[in-house]
Amino acid sequence: MNKFTKGLGACMTAIIVASGAMAEPVDDTLVINEEIEIVTRTAAPAHLSDVMDEVMSGWLFRGEETRAMEMDDFDNPGMIFVEQAEDVWNTADGTEGKSCADCHGESTEMAGVRPVYPKYVEAAGEVRTMEMAINDCRENRMGAEEWKYVGNDMVNMTALLASVSRGMPVNVAIDGPAQSTWEQGKDIYYTRFGQLELSCSNCHEDNYGNMIRADHLSQGQINGFPTYRLKNTKLNAVQDRFKGCIRDTRAETFAPGSPEFVALELYVGSRGNGLSVEGPSVRN
Ligand code: HEC
Ligand code: HEC
Repeated sequence: MNKFTKGLGACMTAIIVASGAMAEPVDDTLVINEEIEIVTRTAAPAHLSDVMDEVMSGWLFRGEETRAMEMDDFDNPGMIFVEQAEDVWNTADGTEGKSCADCHGESTEMAGVRPVYPKYVEAAGEVRTMEMAINDCRENRMGAEEWKYVGNDMVNMTALLASVSRGMPVNVAIDGPAQSTWEQGKDIYYTRFGQLELSCSNCHEDNYGNMIRADHLSQGQINGFPTYRLKNTKLNAVQDRFKGCIRDTRAETFAPGSPEFVALELYVGSRGNGLSVEGPSVRN
């Protein structure tokens, strides 16, 4: 309790309630399709050693029924969108008359891409998210229109590319040419926003495991993205989630695809280094 009563105003203490053992993350194991073993809990990466010992997937903070939906692709509503993206993967588009498959082969050939994004792309001279890499292919290699950053086509495609990497450890690079962007993302993570004056860390670092209103606070990890949310019955992109969380502090928010959110995604991604790629996951 001390760590949050210390730093926070009355607003926060009024909305966050520690409710003892019931609010702890569950002790459960995630195996998808009785085949893909998912690491949902592991030692925190070195850069977090001052603030936490363990990193945990949001899956451990959800109720039994929600958790069960992710254990089998037939029960996971997010997999319908993966199938839709598979069709798109194989369909030619744009002035070059090419499909993703024409250049990349089967979608399973993309296994290993999700775990390292966002990453510094040498040819572009900047840190890019997977969405940016996809739109680069559409615009510059296919002669097709860019997809809207958090639109359906894009979020479906990121779900397909996550699904083929499920079980692989998140391994986002934070040093070398990515370091300055990572530091920018870290600054944003610890900045207090809005009338409630809350930072990401106030909720997801200081208070995970506690209840906030009726919600069980997780560490706000992004290894499970995109997530199918029961609340809005669709796939949700990472940066849409960032936007929602900032809006909940009653602050103006950055736009999905903005440099600020790209930096934040790199930083938050690196807080989950060692957890498995789990998307598309199922959440409330
Ligand atoms: C004309 C060929 C071509 C087409 C069509 C194409 N790509 Fe690419 N794509 C490339 C090349 C070349 C690269 C950069 C080299 C690499 O990383 O494979 C790339 C890179 C990528 C990357 C980053 C991979 C990494 O390891 O960093 C992603 C993600 C991607 N493409 C997705 C797509 C998707 C999704 C489509 C269809 C909407 C698509 N591409 C269509 C040629 C293509
Ligand atoms: C007022 C508290 C609060 C703040 C501040 C906040 N969040 Fe959240 N966030 C929540 C709640 C509640 C949820 C839903 C339950 C959960 O997964 O923690 C959530 C969920 C998330 C998730 C989804 C996790 C999953 O497994 O699906 C991510 C990612 C996330 N937040 C990131 C952030 C980031 C990044 C920031 C800072 C820009 C932030 N949050 C600020 C309360 C907050």
